[in-house]
Amino acid sequence: MRLDKFIADRTEYSRAQIKLIVKKGSVSVDGVTVKKSDMQINPENQTVCVEGKNLVYREHTYIILNKPEGYVCSTDSKDGATVLDLIPDELKVKGLFPAGRLDKDTLGMVFLTDDGELAHRILSPKRHIPKIYLVKLDRPFEIKYVDEFTKGLILENGEKCLPARVFAVENNEKWAFIELHEGKYHQVKRMFAAVENHVERLMRISMGGLKLPVELGKGQHIELLHKDVEKLFSPLDAEDFCRKNFVVFSSYLINN
Ligand code: URA
Repeated sequence: MRLDKFIADRTEYSRAQIKLIVKKGSVSVDGVTVKKSDMQINPENQTVCVEGKNLVYREHTYIILNKPEGYVCSTDSKDGATVLDLIPDELKVKGLFPAGRLDKDTLGMVFLTDDGELAHRILSPKRHIPKIYLVKLDRPFEIKYVDEFTKGLILENGEKCLPARVFAVENNEKWAFIELHEGKYHQVKRMFAAVENHVERLMRISMGGLKLPVELGKGQHIELLHKDVEKLFSPLDAEDFCRKNFVVFSSYLINN
């Protein structure tokens, strides 16, 4: 592979800019400063260093981000601050995008990748990858929601939802967890609106068998290996995970 292509795929630099930084002596391959940006390298077993940072070879990039309020799940900066603004340059590979959207005011787990095939599997409505949200309600949770959500709720515009699991949190009457198998626009907010409640705060805490790491702070991210990503397609013991981590996630949601 050409060195400039390898660098261009992993940084913000254009081919022309790469030529310049190579000229300046800021690029090395296996510790040796290089002179030509079009030289051939084998990224699988050579180390490329640009301005003091090693560029890691991987076929694709997979990231879990803990999205703060105020960021949009878009790749277009015309929409305002985007989740990509929270990703450091060395991970911002070409084609990186959020696989699935959260509203601007929703917090929590966003999965970003440049692996189109995987993103397609995640977003495919046929796969029904479960997503769990922690919800802070305006009014107390009512036990009748469990049945109504399980049956498949009808939204105010007549749209029918797939069956969803919802459960309350003991001694915390305005909190609930909801597990969805689809992703309609503003779905959680519209579901609670359909039962005459109102979502005050919303945070996604898992996608498939992948959990938002509890130690991940506001706007922080972790990079995943391909083998971990397959957890997206395996089940999660949802209730156990939710109950165990309620205190951490609810305090985070209140304080952010
Ligand atoms: N449902 C919503 O209402 N908003 C989100 O961001 C995600 C699910």
